[in-house]
Amino acid sequence: MAYIDWSPDYDLGIAEIDRQHRRLVEIVNRLHDAMVQRSPKSAMQSVVCDLATYTEFHFAYEERLMQSMDLPDWEAHRSEHRVLAHEIRSFETDLAVGRLSVSMDLMAVLQRWLLNHVLHADRELVQHAKGLRGGAILVLSR
Ligand SMILES: [Fe+2]
Ligand SMILES: [Fe+2]
Repeated sequence: MAYIDWSPDYDLGIAEIDRQHRRLVEIVNRLHDAMVQRSPKSAMQSVVCDLATYTEFHFAYEERLMQSMDLPDWEAHRSEHRVLAHEIRSFETDLAVGRLSVSMDLMAVLQRWLLNHVLHADRELVQHAKGLRGGAILVLSR
């Protein structure tokens, strides 16, 4: 069973952003699987690295979208991204040097940041974007 089940409530209505959010959830679920299966530390480190890399890619995508549309408060949203991206890279370092292990506590932290950010900051972003474009589907080159 997946650690986080995707819920239709998490779909915000811009297909590319929803696709990227689903991919983030999949990576968090992969980390949970690796933990439950007691995979070697190197395997867990590789999943955390994937999570950090994909998170940075996703944040950059959203930031380009916000800037291109000159959305209000985009800088506050970007600051939130910076904090989260830094936190995930710190997990990666802490895991590598043995200061941290993959535990249910860490999984809960990851679930919380992901869903909180998606359901609040990103939901606002998408609502503004759709309002400005009259609900048109947005696609940015990746
Ligand atoms: Fe997002
Ligand atoms: Fe975001």
